[in-house]
Amino acid sequence: MIIIKTEQEIQMMKRAGELLAKTHKEIAKMIKPGITTYEIDKFVEEYLKEHNAIPEQKGYYGYPYAICASVNDEICHGFPRKEPLKNGDIVTIDMVVNLDGWLADSAWSYGVGEISQEARKLLDVTKKALYIGIEKAVIGNRIGDISHAIQTYVESEGFSVVRDFVGHGIGKKMHEDPQVPHFGKPGRGPRLMEGMVITIEPMVNVGKYHCIIDDNQWTARTIDGKLSAQYEHTLAITKNGPLILTDQGD
Ligand code: MF3
Ligand code: CO
Repeated sequence: MIIIKTEQEIQMMKRAGELLAKTHKEIAKMIKPGITTYEIDKFVEEYLKEHNAIPEQKGYYGYPYAICASVNDEICHGFPRKEPLKNGDIVTIDMVVNLDGWLADSAWSYGVGEISQEARKLLDVTKKALYIGIEKAVIGNRIGDISHAIQTYVESEGFSVVRDFVGHGIGKKMHEDPQVPHFGKPGRGPRLMEGMVITIEPMVNVGKYHCIIDDNQWTARTIDGKLSAQYEHTLAITKNGPLILTDQGD
């Protein structure tokens, strides 16, 4: 069942989204060779607390941290670590902010120091894939129109789209209907209606799209050890088009 949000509810989610965007802006300043994702996790916990918000991921089905921090071949749900990030790494920081009971979800990939041309292209293509998907998030389109646009673009750049993890509806709960795959056929799936709030969160791999899960039962990594990146926004479907609730102003 898809839960439609009122304008006031969307405004509440926008407050959560704005705080999340601000948190990402702070993280962007911290990412340098030598910092650990464990420090970033601690920072996020503190920062959200100071702003009277809760890191919703912590404790979600037993997930132990405020953020997911997925490095290089890790696709998603990477655990923060005390091992420093190195020059040339890429890292995706994903988090869900709960502010006054309303949620927002956004992941962002960062390059650490100087990164390879291939890594740079992966980040650029993945971010562009997110915005190409968002353009299709208009009243009357179907979920499949978003999925298809993302897949077509990513594959045209020679990369692959992860199948095992998808975007989702979001509101007072992290995961609501509908599912939002980043691959598929146009004209299929639920029709987009005013007041729906969803995430679009393509995970893009340099090599094969397949993944394996680590012994920690959470972390997904690429089967071939090649790089993976992810950008995610939470957005509302409105009469005036998609409204990005986690917009960082870029
Ligand atoms: N933020 C994730 C998403 O995009 C969910 C992370 S799973 C958790 O759906 F367990 F870490 F919360
Ligand atoms: Co997320």
